[in-house]
Amino acid sequence: MSQEVDGQKMNTSKRKFLIAATSAVGGVAAVAVAVPLLLSMQPSARAKAAGAPVEVDISKVEPGMLLTVEWRGKPVWIVNRTKEMLDMLPKIDDRLTDPNSDMPQQPAYCKNPTRSIKPEYLVAVGICTHLGCSPTFRKEVGAADLGADWPGGFFCPCHGSRFDLAARVFKGVPAPLNLVIPPHQYHGDAKLLIGVDTKGA
Ligand code: FES
Repeated sequence: MSQEVDGQKMNTSKRKFLIAATSAVGGVAAVAVAVPLLLSMQPSARAKAAGAPVEVDISKVEPGMLLTVEWRGKPVWIVNRTKEMLDMLPKIDDRLTDPNSDMPQQPAYCKNPTRSIKPEYLVAVGICTHLGCSPTFRKEVGAADLGADWPGGFFCPCHGSRFDLAARVFKGVPAPLNLVIPPHQYHGDAKLLIGVDTKGA
């Protein structure tokens, strides 16, 4: 099967996503490029097996961009949301199954309107809560194939589930729950640590 992400055709199958390894000083810093691109971290095999936290350099994730990294074998999305994207979130609450994040799909510190620590950054596990496909980043408001009322978000190509830019699921789709927000924390403005937080999760 193929899907399109920001104009790029790519192969998709259940839980598979494009991984582009990158290296940097320190070994586990990700580098974003000029267009939204799926990237992966490559910690050591031993660390990976242990589910080690993944450190991500988010300094080059421009507003509107998506960066994908791998954590515990799962794709984790980092989206730098623009003001327009953030302004859209409260306007669609009545179209969502769990707009207030009442279900335990996120750490307590992300149970807020943006489901995040920093409003601009969404950090979410990119696995559909229906049957585990990886949804596609569809940020185009009113995309022709998704309808004039499409606010931007994520579309699952397997059975059509839709999620907004806070990874909240829409009503009337197969997926029952919002996407998972993993434990994470920031170190300054540029570093994000996925898989650990101040509570030691
Ligand atoms: S796996 Fe996403 S809609 Fe079925």
